Amino acid sequence: MHPRMQPSRTGRAPTAHAPTGHSSTGPSATTTDVLVIGGGIIGLVTAWRAAQRGLSTAVADPEPGGGAARVAAGMLAAVTELHYGEEMLLGLNLASARRYPDFVAELEEASGQDTGYRRCGTLAVALDTDDRAHLRELHALQHRSGLESEWLTGRECRRLEPMLAPGVRGGLRVDGDHQIDPRRLAKALVAACERAGVTFHRAWVERLSVVRDRAAGAVLDGGREVAAEQVVLAAGSLSGRLEGVPEEVLPPVRPVKGQVLRLTVPRPYAPFLSRTVRALVRGSHVYLVPRENGELVVGATSEELGWDTTVTAGGVYQLLRDAHELVPGLTELPLTETRAGLRPGSPDNAPLLGPTELPGLLLATGHYRNGVLLTPVTGDVMAHALVTGELPEEAKPFTPRRFSPVRQEVTA
Ligand code: GLY
Repeated sequence: MHPRMQPSRTGRAPTAHAPTGHSSTGPSATTTDVLVIGGGIIGLVTAWRAAQRGLSTAVADPEPGGGAARVAAGMLAAVTELHYGEEMLLGLNLASARRYPDFVAELEEASGQDTGYRRCGTLAVALDTDDRAHLRELHALQHRSGLESEWLTGRECRRLEPMLAPGVRGGLRVDGDHQIDPRRLAKALVAACERAGVTFHRAWVERLSVVRDRAAGAVLDGGREVAAEQVVLAAGSLSGRLEGVPEEVLPPVRPVKGQVLRLTVPRPYAPFLSRTVRALVRGSHVYLVPRENGELVVGATSEELGWDTTVTAGGVYQLLRDAHELVPGLTELPLTETRAGLRPGSPDNAPLLGPTELPGLLLATGHYRNGVLLTPVTGDVMAHALVTGELPEEAKPFTPRRFSPVRQEVTA
């Protein structure tokens, strides 16, 4: 859930807000070094890292720890989710994947909570000739990109994962693609933020405050003002909707719907799957993520339907049909949860990180399919940007300025 820009309960898109011009913060305003708008995992990791750097930090969100992480499966799949044309993003994904073990150790220590991080690896399999050809192409792309993955025959895949369908034609074993439980990750981040002294304003954000052409805080629901030296907009797919943000600075982020199912392997847990298994089944992607507590996450649809978060019969059918082809025994399991979430898609599928053309306003949004994976690196990058005013070298390609109208005119 996010500030003010949350779609209405009817599922209609919120009205795009026009900038309201400058506003001022009143005498009763609370002042902080950093105000993070949005308490999903990206906002939380930004706040935690900022507070660790000695900045007084606040997060505004009616329900910190919610957002897309409540739906996400939590695959850390830099290699198996490699897509053509995303080579620049690959570098950032790999940098974040490398940081995960230390990040998790530090977060678990700081929060006193387990995050469900599992170094289990991933197996991507093919069911028919076309899927196999696609996987062969992906393998070649991975190889060209210097990534580690091993081609296995169908029999070798089934030896690793005996529940796989006999029809599996081959697969890619990627031992470096792991998983984490995003709900536990979010909970741990809330706790770590609290222990680090982050203030939570459990309220919607009405609008950004802009004073003398500089972001100066936000007005919360009910009119309360929070003044801040710097504001980070980290509201996921809703980041492009905040009232008060000048039009040319609004991030070009859109919602991409994903429906996800949760099944439960009954106790005592019979070995069902030992690692994440994913496949392209006649053109549609499906993945199965087994947790140690018996939860089996099946995802995900990818739908360009605006702000709609309805769980549909068609979405559930597609996921169960494809998952069943992959692992026929899965239909015996209780279906315990169905949900839809909104990925924050950007024009180049990469995040928007760091300072904007509006002084005092930074972005941490547009993470699309990789929000969970990119959490550690985002925290580090944003803390660096908040302290120094600059992006670190590894994050320079992800500046929001790559979409600014001025930049595009110059490069056209
Ligand atoms: N990264 C998985 C998904 O976006 O569905």
